[in-house]
Amino acid sequence: MPKAWIQDRKRDYYYQKAKAENYRSRATYKLSQTAKKYHFIRKGNIVVDLGAAPGGWIQAARKIVGKTGFVLGVDLKPIEPFPQEYVRTIVGDFTEPETLQQIMDFLPRKADIVLSDASPNISGIWEVDNARQIDLATKALEIALRTLRPSGNFFVKVFEGNMLPDFVKTVKKHFEVVKVIKPKASRAKSSEMYLLAMNLKTANLAEEQS
Ligand SMILES: C[S@@+](CC[C@H](N)C(=O)[O-])C[C@H]1O[C@@H](n2cnc3c(N)ncnc32)[C@H](O)[C@@H]1O
Repeated sequence: MPKAWIQDRKRDYYYQKAKAENYRSRATYKLSQTAKKYHFIRKGNIVVDLGAAPGGWIQAARKIVGKTGFVLGVDLKPIEPFPQEYVRTIVGDFTEPETLQQIMDFLPRKADIVLSDASPNISGIWEVDNARQIDLATKALEIALRTLRPSGNFFVKVFEGNMLPDFVKTVKKHFEVVKVIKPKASRAKSSEMYLLAMNLKTANLAEEQS
């Protein structure tokens, strides 16, 4: 890793805060800040987190849902296990159909929220990275449409760019409320944004979930 990047990271406010508060990533605050503002995760909820390693969002979600809820994290990389029975993790590629099946097998009932902070390997070529990010977000949307209950919520990382408006349009077909937001904990110079979609519409849902 370049030295300047390591130094930047050490000076970073949220990096330090995550270390002090025993969170596994500075990304934790992107979820906790948005959840606090929009109340889209509640006590007792069932949450699926796609691209969850090292587990910062799992920690933030777990705190809100508590032991009457359930959090399932999925990542290509193994996630260090959590002691709580209501937190489970799967190693898998969520773009593969067998991972969707595994997710469904793990869930005690339909999910209330699907999260995805998944990011692709960055090539440095803007168009390529933008397309890969939207691809992952689209796959996450497909999983949300298969696993969410009616009126469920979806929160996903996207990149600001020319492919975003079409993705927003697609998500709006399925959810009542759609917002593109930049949490305070997301670095200002990064083009990362988050799309928050609330209240999954029930029309066509039976078809999506069949
Ligand atoms: C920015 S990290 C997530 C950080 C996490 N939200 C946290 O707070 O700890 C992005 C993750 O997405 C995962 N990822 C990318 N593509 C994936 C895929 N197709 N299936 C599963 N995980 C994927 C990566 O392995 C990486 O761990």
